[in-house]
This record gives sequence, C-alpha cells and structure tokens, in this order.
Amino acid sequence: MMKPAYLLCVAALAVGLISSLTSSAIAEDAGQNYQTFCALCHGPSGGGDGAGAATLQVRPRNFTDCGRMRRVSEEEAYNVIRNGGAAANLSADMPPWRDSLTEDETRALVRYVQGFCNDNQSAKMTKPEKP
Ligand code: HEC
Repeated sequence: MMKPAYLLCVAALAVGLISSLTSSAIAEDAGQNYQTFCALCHGPSGGGDGAGAATLQVRPRNFTDCGRMRRVSEEEAYNVIRNGGAAANLSADMPPWRDSLTEDETRALVRYVQGFCNDNQSAKMTKPEKP
C-alpha cells in the first residue's frame, strides 16, 4: 500500500529537481552562450572590444556603456539578437541568431548583456519594475 504514494513522492521530487536544474542551467547557459557566440565581437567583458571587432566598420555595441544601453529596450535587444542588426537598421555585421539560439536562450542573453551595465538607473529603465 505504501508503493503508489512513495512513487508519487519520488516523481514530485524529480520534477522539482529537474525544473530547478533547468532554470539554473539557463542562467549558466547565457554566460556560456555569450562567451561562445558573442564575445568574439562584443568582448569577453561586454566592452565591445572582442578580437573580431577590429575588422568591423561599425563597432559592436559596448554593453558596459550604460548611457547607450539605456536607450536599448529589452524588445529591441531581443529583436536584434534574434533577427540580426539589419532587421533594426543597424550594422549587418551583427548576425541573426534565430537558427542557433532558442527564444528562451535569447531572452536569457538579453538579461545577460544588460547585466554588463550595473548602473541602477539603467536597470530601472530596461528591466520590469519590481514591487
Ligand atoms: C560578428 C560580430 C558580432 C557578433 C558575433 C555578435 N554581435 Fe552583436 N553587434 C555587432 C555589431 C557590429 C553591433 C552594432 C550594430 C550597430 O550599431 O549598427 C551589434 C549590436 C548588438 C546589440 C545592440 C542592439 C541595439 O539595439 O543597440 C545587441 C543587444 C547585440 N549585438 C547582442 C549580441 C549577442 C547577444 C550576440 C551573441 C549571441 C552578438 N551580439 C554577437 C556585432 C556582433
């Protein structure tokens, strides 16, 4: 008689474990995806100074430039990452990533690149208000 309840309990634990693993995995992935796909141009610390940046006509966005990043909404950043610079009248050197990154990974990257500017005012402008 103990068995079904026990199994249910194990199943619930497994679901909890898996969901907590995936959410931390997504956050970790953002950092890893950034270093894999973006650092070449945007720089390992987001300064827009990656090794590949020197050859580009338009400098990759410097994510640590809070004043500049304040004018980039989450939606705009999402669109540019997903569809490329050309889709937003920016440099076509910013490639589209919709075939390489999922929507969730893209959203996580938006938050990740916004994190390079740690000026509170910018955080207020670009991140949803918290109660
Ligand atoms: C081949 C170089 C290159 C790579 C790789 C690259 N970018 Fe960019 N990115 C650019 C350039 C150049 C611009 C600036 C476009 C402009 O100002 O016209 C840019 C602009 C941006 C912007 C600014 C959008 C705005 O509205 O100001 C975001 C956000 C961004 N990139 C995110 C990413 C992310 C995330 C990755 C990795 C998945 C990435 N980029 C990979 C070159 C690159």
